[in-house]
Amino acid sequence: MTAIEQAILTWIHLVAAAMWVGGSLFIGIVFSPLLKTMTNSVEERMQIMIRVGRRFNKVAVPSLIILMATGLYSSHVLLAKPDLLVATSYGTFLIIKILLVIALIITYVVHVRVIRKDVEDKIMSKQMPEPEIQKLRKKIIILGEITVVISIAILFFAALLDAGV
Ligand code: HEM
Repeated sequence: MTAIEQAILTWIHLVAAAMWVGGSLFIGIVFSPLLKTMTNSVEERMQIMIRVGRRFNKVAVPSLIILMATGLYSSHVLLAKPDLLVATSYGTFLIIKILLVIALIITYVVHVRVIRKDVEDKIMSKQMPEPEIQKLRKKIIILGEITVVISIAILFFAALLDAGV
């Protein structure tokens, strides 16, 4: 790979990371507190959040796929050498980063799957009792927070790789 090809690959990886991390942080830090001031009804807040989440997913899922594709392509030469992978700190950080990405995907899939279509329909048509909504909400919030924390941790390992620690 030439230097310019390398730069373009890193650029795509960075843009996708910005979309994934930026988007989730925006929802958590800006949108979520704002939503609380918009309506007192938990049911309405869930309805809005589900719509925002569904919309964000259209950008978030492709971003995550692009991150994995470009990241794995950048490291495929090293990944093919298991002995080097475990013998260097770069290799160890890369393995940890990949494991974190796997944990991220699992958490995110569970997070999204909590609101399956039938659950969504029940909330949208106001057929879900308030305590059940509250319970669901708590679960989603925790899973969402774990997603953000893992993403930030992945960025730290990206920084370690970049610095060549
Ligand atoms: C399977 C998934 C992934 C793999 C294999 C991977 C691999 C890599 C590699 C090899 C680098 C270059 C590091 C260097 O400078 O030597 C890198 C950089 C980076 N990655 Fe990933 N990555 C993955 C997913 C992610 C995710 C999910 C995020 C965001 C949360 C992310 C964010 C970054 C950032 C910000 C950089 C810094 C670019 C730089 O300065 O080089 N990566 N990644």
